[in-house]
Amino acid sequence: MTNRNGSQLLSSPQPSVHVAIIMDGSGRWGVARGLPRMDGHRAGRAAVCRTVAAALEQPIHTLTLFAFSTDNWSRPESEVAELMRNFEGFFREDGPALVPQGVRLSVMGRRDRLPGFLRDAIEQIEATSAAGSTLHLRLAIDYSGREAILAAARRFQSTNDGPAENFAFLLAESAGESVPDVDLLIRTGGELRLSNCPLWEIAYAELHFTACLWPDFGPAELDAALQDFYSRHRRFGRIPAAV
Ligand code: IPE
Ligand code: IPE
Ligand code: MG
Repeated sequence: MTNRNGSQLLSSPQPSVHVAIIMDGSGRWGVARGLPRMDGHRAGRAAVCRTVAAALEQPIHTLTLFAFSTDNWSRPESEVAELMRNFEGFFREDGPALVPQGVRLSVMGRRDRLPGFLRDAIEQIEATSAAGSTLHLRLAIDYSGREAILAAARRFQSTNDGPAENFAFLLAESAGESVPDVDLLIRTGGELRLSNCPLWEIAYAELHFTACLWPDFGPAELDAALQDFYSRHRRFGRIPAAV
């Protein structure tokens, strides 16, 4: 068995999974170095690039990255403004290099409060990467797990769509796409909480918390989280023998 670069994989093949990451600790990373918090966020952008490259080498079909919550608007205006420019930089400068590798980029969360330059950058990369089928990279920006469920519930009620399975389509915010369950949820930065991340999708996720600050995250940390995941016994409410 070889990976996409043609090198040998040492372990036995694993089924492809959905990994979600709460990318926390970038501000503290900067402060710990006597730097502005924003330097930490810029280093966090480099960690995103490293992690996506690492994900392409792993059996991962979907990577969901929680980048900015609806509650993060309450941060100082200057940090928020710079974060928006940092996201734009990612979509405009880093995103295009992912397209030839088969990465499909999409953004979940509210768009109406994002600055126009960021909305344009998102729409452009979503369009140019739409055919990607190697890895689905979902960025959650102005996202709230609770609001996503509430919005889907409203659409569900208004369309009177019947079967509960349709709810996952409504949650994905776009027709013809269902929200895949998260298999492994990673939170960096040492906090042991969920902070309004994609709540519906993590119902049966395995949780991996690490003190590693997001800008220090990369291939080795992703691999360690996956090894942790592979060591778990998922039962989905059944008894071990029946799984
Ligand atoms: C998470 O990193 C990224 C965002 C919420 C934008 P933080 O900015 O929360 O970093 P810390 O937790 O303050 O170190
Ligand atoms: C969680 O980080 C949200 C994101 C990583 C986008 P926060 O720093 O906002 O979470 P709290 O405030 O520690 O719960
Ligand atoms: Mg934080």
